[in-house]
Amino acid sequence: MTIEAPRPSVVDVSHVKVFGIIGAGQMGLGIAQVAAQTGHDVILLDASLDLAEKGRAKLAKSLDRLVEKGKLGGTERDAVLARVRAAKDASELVTADVVVEAATENMDVKIKLFQAADAAMKPGAILASNTSSISITKLAGATKRPDFVAGMHFMNPVPVMKLCEIVRGVQSSDNTIQVLTALARAMGKTTILSKDIPGFLVNRMLIPFLNEACFALQEGVGTPEDLDLAGKLGLNHPMGPLELADLIGLDTCLFIAEVLHREFGDDKYRPASILRNLVAAGWVGRKSGRGFYVYDEKGNKTKSAL
Ligand code: 3HC
Repeated sequence: MTIEAPRPSVVDVSHVKVFGIIGAGQMGLGIAQVAAQTGHDVILLDASLDLAEKGRAKLAKSLDRLVEKGKLGGTERDAVLARVRAAKDASELVTADVVVEAATENMDVKIKLFQAADAAMKPGAILASNTSSISITKLAGATKRPDFVAGMHFMNPVPVMKLCEIVRGVQSSDNTIQVLTALARAMGKTTILSKDIPGFLVNRMLIPFLNEACFALQEGVGTPEDLDLAGKLGLNHPMGPLELADLIGLDTCLFIAEVLHREFGDDKYRPASILRNLVAAGWVGRKSGRGFYVYDEKGNKTKSAL
């Protein structure tokens, strides 16, 4: 048994003013929103300027909903949005103090993005990944700043969920871990620290749970609704396992399950065939309008899809 290193001490992060976010999807936009709401300037990057601008427009809608609910003033909304700038390419990351990559869960894609960001970023700036399962140490190895690389794993939906998991790669320096920890706290999150082992802490527990619900479903143990009620009312979880899998994205759940299965070489992590089939059909959950449930255009769950 190994004993975890001491928890990182909190350092001053007032010098971290500019955030780069790579990936204007569900997670990237959530991180961008929280970063801007906590006073940081945000450079938002996607595969093109058009996609980054579309992401910024979605972020504006999310802020509008907060205004409608009376949780954000109109002037504050404008100030938050003004702090977010859509960028054309990685060269614009030159002014970033910290960059968080939140692109698709694909090692080759992430390595290319890491290399482009590393080449553009100033010395001493930190490059973090929001990856849910890819090795931080491998990503760091693709850069010339491995000691300035670590994991900064937010939970979905980022503006609501209180946790940020900090992942220490083999070469991450103490200072990198301390800065990211303090930064996550400055963004209103509670942090936990994980070693760079597949699934880290959250998904090591979550994905086998969601996968087991898929096995129970395909074995006909219960209906989707009853499995979700079991999670909600029997375990007091805010969502049942199947509706949570739909929220995360079944493609992401399958990807993480495959990483756990492959990296640990243990069949207890093998993905359920129903999960594989739904992903193969393109029914990847809420974002595609159909997964274990069917969703209307506003994203509201309407009925079971099975
Ligand atoms: N973005 C911003 N805010 C959102 C949101 C979103 N996508 N979804 C919901 N919210 C806000 C709502 O606006 C509402 O705010 P209010 O209380 O200020 O009005 C609040 O969250 C509650 O929302 P609702 O009333 O609509 O619905 P619920 O009370 O059912 O809460 C939920 C929704 C927060 C999503 C809740 O069901 C929940 O916590 N579910 C579990 C989510 C979870 O487990 N996430 C972790 C996934 S694991 C992960 O991300 C790791 C990855 O690597 C796989």
